[in-house]
Amino acid sequence: MSQSQHISRRVFLQTTGAIAVGATFAARSYAKVVGANDRIRIGFIGAGGMASGHMQAIRDLREKNNLEPVIVADCWKTRAEQGAKILGISNAVADYHQVLDNKDVDYVTIATPEHRHAQMTLDAMGAGKAIYCEKPMTHTLPEAVAVMKKQKETKLPLQIGVQAMSDDSYASAGKAIREGVIGQVVQAQIEYVRRYDKEGPWRVPDLKEDTPKPDDLDWDNWLGSAPKVAWNPHHYFEWRNYAAYSGGICTDLFIHRITRIMKACDLLYPRRVVGMGGIWQWNDGRDLPDNFEMICEYPRGMTVYVLGTMSNRVGIDHLIRGYRGTLYFTPGGWVAKDKDDKVLAEHKKTGGEDILLHHTNLQNHLRKGEPLNCPVELGMAGVAAVCMANESWRTGQMMAWDAKNETMVPANTLDLSHLPEKDA
Ligand SMILES: NC(=O)c1ccc[n+]([C@@H]2O[C@H](COP(=O)([O-])OP(=O)(O)OC[C@H]3O[C@@H](n4cnc5c(N)ncnc54)[C@H](O)[C@@H]3O)[C@@H](O)[C@H]2O)c1
Repeated sequence: MSQSQHISRRVFLQTTGAIAVGATFAARSYAKVVGANDRIRIGFIGAGGMASGHMQAIRDLREKNNLEPVIVADCWKTRAEQGAKILGISNAVADYHQVLDNKDVDYVTIATPEHRHAQMTLDAMGAGKAIYCEKPMTHTLPEAVAVMKKQKETKLPLQIGVQAMSDDSYASAGKAIREGVIGQVVQAQIEYVRRYDKEGPWRVPDLKEDTPKPDDLDWDNWLGSAPKVAWNPHHYFEWRNYAAYSGGICTDLFIHRITRIMKACDLLYPRRVVGMGGIWQWNDGRDLPDNFEMICEYPRGMTVYVLGTMSNRVGIDHLIRGYRGTLYFTPGGWVAKDKDDKVLAEHKKTGGEDILLHHTNLQNHLRKGEPLNCPVELGMAGVAAVCMANESWRTGQMMAWDAKNETMVPANTLDLSHLPEKDA
């Protein structure tokens, strides 16, 4: 294992609490901002589809967890006002910097399209805020590197919104695997399948080409650093179909799945990745695939296969294969069986894939230093896997992780081993 991989893995173990020191450090660094019994005050950036889920969650947790929603920003002001209404507050603004300038706010929830995550997260850390940022952590890999760097400098808590990390099944599977329950792990499979109606993935039925831009929507602010284009309702309402704003199936859906296997198998950066698929069914102007699969090979000596189609919802088991047995994820948790189907161990989950639990984990981190369930290290390594898969698809090459330079490169430009790395 290279030095930089070694360091990031050690830091990762600290941050996730596998080494107790990490939790202590995190608690001390943030204790000055939120005391154990203080009310936690929350600002919202983005007030669209997913944000309404966050707002409901904070409303539901308000009394129990001693919370106070303070301010909502959306570059479509009407949406900010609708969000404020859900929360029962009146402070609705169009410019997200007003959320960051608000001294009352302890943490911000960022639920905007992917291409805005990095700038907003960097700005929020610049303003000294803790952050719950929706997945994927960033749209691109260089952005992930910049966010990781700033988080290490500021030490500000950053929870990435892969909420299944607050389902204890994955950490518990990780513990069982470390203890050798299924022996040497060699392979995992998981999927994200859906079947869309005739409009295809992420299309709004009957959306008209000439839908005008709402007067109170700041289009330039929505675009951010994306290429400047004239108002386009398909881009605004259906952004997941365009590479300027999203990575499509990979970054929107697979990020949930790969992060589960990463947590269960103690994985960070893949060694090699391939992505395959195409625009097979809905060639409607999208520039991202509507069917996609990826395979990631990890330095510990295992592959992870992620199946994906948007045309058929027949899935496959989510499981991890070891030499001694197989660990199957089930709706209730997981069960590990040997080759004769004898149960080796099982786990009944106490929670689930739940944003209430994920917010509570961040709040407990702020108050008591509880380790974050989806820290920046998992966020960045997840972005690496899915961006490498998309780049593989786009360029027709196998991609590899260049640990020294923290970037992806064509796999045939590095002299990579086919053996497990000793301490991976
Ligand atoms: N964790 C999950 O299960 C889950 C589920 C759905 C969506 N998401 C994530 O949530 C995020 C948002 O997705 P969505 O479906 O809510 O999208 P959306 O388009 O419905 O909402 C995004 C909102 O952000 C606002 N916005 C964009 N730029 C802004 C800016 N500069 N300042 C203020 N507001 C701005 C938009 O106006 C819009 O209202 C994405 O990252 C997505 O991947 C996560």
